[in-house]
Amino acid sequence: MLGELNPPPITADSETIAHGEQVYGRLCSVCHGPSGVSDSVGTFPDLRYSARLASEEAWHSVVIEGELVAGGMVSFAGTLETADPEAIRAYIIARAHADREAMAR
Ligand code: HEC
Repeated sequence: MLGELNPPPITADSETIAHGEQVYGRLCSVCHGPSGVSDSVGTFPDLRYSARLASEEAWHSVVIEGELVAGGMVSFAGTLETADPEAIRAYIIARAHADREAMAR
């Protein structure tokens, strides 16, 4: 069990979230799991639970600056368009909210 989902508030519009979903599906889901749900949390963190969701800087530091390269998380600098990391973050935040609501039912 990963404990409770506690995502930050959703601030992005639905277009941004849809774009994030698309990019996530193309580039991130192979490791972090389809629909933002990791199949192997021991190896690939379930991003819905990441504390980095709350911080644009902390997210950017991993996804673009390669802070966790040593742990197997490649940098996507040069692969992602400028707005993509934030769109993906928005998508995962939205996913976490949807899944938390589903779990509460
Ligand atoms: C080749 C596999 C792989 C791909 C593809 C991948 N990741 Fe990762 N990612 C990892 C691994 C492994 C870690 C754990 C690194 C660590 O903790 O040292 C990680 C960690 C992260 C973290 C930090 C999570 C936390 O809070 O600990 C974020 C954020 C992240 N990835 C975002 C992304 C995004 C966004 C994409 C797509 C653009 C992506 N990753 C694609 C393997 C991958």
